[in-house]
Amino acid sequence: MVIETHDLTKLYGEKVGCEKICLSVGEGQIFGFLGPNGAGKSTFVKMLVGLIKPTSGTAKLLGAPLGDVAARRRLGFLPENFRYQDWLSGRELLYYHAALAFIPRHERESRIDEVLRMVKLSAAADGKIKTYSKGMQQRVGIAAALISDPDLLFLDEPTSALDPIGRLEVREIITSLRDRGKAVFLNSHLLSELEMICDSVAIIKGGRVVEEGTLTELLKGRVEVEVTASQLNGSIERVIDGLGRVLANNGSYLLVELDSEDMIPTLATRIIEAGGKLYNLSRKKRTLEELFLGAVKGGEA
Ligand SMILES: Nc1ncnc2c1ncn2[C@@H]1O[C@H](COP(=O)(O)OP(=O)(O)OP(=O)(O)O)[C@@H](O)[C@H]1O
Ligand SMILES: [Mg+2]
Repeated sequence: MVIETHDLTKLYGEKVGCEKICLSVGEGQIFGFLGPNGAGKSTFVKMLVGLIKPTSGTAKLLGAPLGDVAARRRLGFLPENFRYQDWLSGRELLYYHAALAFIPRHERESRIDEVLRMVKLSAAADGKIKTYSKGMQQRVGIAAALISDPDLLFLDEPTSALDPIGRLEVREIITSLRDRGKAVFLNSHLLSELEMICDSVAIIKGGRVVEEGTLTELLKGRVEVEVTASQLNGSIERVIDGLGRVLANNGSYLLVELDSEDMIPTLATRIIEAGGKLYNLSRKKRTLEELFLGAVKGGEA
């Protein structure tokens, strides 16, 4: 495990930041941490990277207790409200971070060029950060987080300022890190984006974890199948008799809920036996958004 927390709690006076959070993240995992505004996501990350002290509870990062200097050297961190020294150029900022990360002098230039290429900022590297767009500032922040080639990377809303292409590029960077065995802890509101890359997620609400698990486990749920078919002889109710129920019927488009996934091939056979022309039959996946809204809004969803 690269992250293990036990009852990790942060109170700001009377106010709860995070309460009794128990989470573990394995090596080579992309872990998504989601929750509404003010749920405690940034508080949790700030405790782990050592910016604020937990009120109670314990945690280990890369096998060492919080605050261990050797383990902290193996972390990368992009804060949520990134504000860098904007009188520096992107390259100068990265040089400063390379020095802070104790990268040997003779390796700094080549490492800086490498991370600039990763975040597609090579051409603008010598411009002052104050002249950068918000997306460019976010890219330089991601580059700074990557400079030491960390084993565990915390990204607090890494794509909030990026356009769709920038988001895709950041997803590619994150998955390439996983391919190299690194772990990435991502705070984000962009559910469809998290759904594309995360292995596991936790949903936090009011400082407490309300859902946690692998995406496959969490998105399992009901078996809903979308069907496009024409020229069915007889009613659709007869075709799906004993298999499930019809949720929507727009002529040739049907949305059917089946009792189990083993019924999917039977449904296809029945449609064809009833003389139907089958254009599409696909399982509808539960989305992370549905799961999120269900977990966060509770009974209201
Ligand atoms: N320094 C602070 N002093 C007092 N309360 C704080 C402080 N920082 C955060 N809080 C409170 O702790 C709670 C959790 O805040 P946090 O910033 O961790 O939420 P978040 O999930 O990151 O939200 P967002 O999605 O808006 O970034 C909120 O109620 C917030 O008001
Ligand atoms: Mg936050």
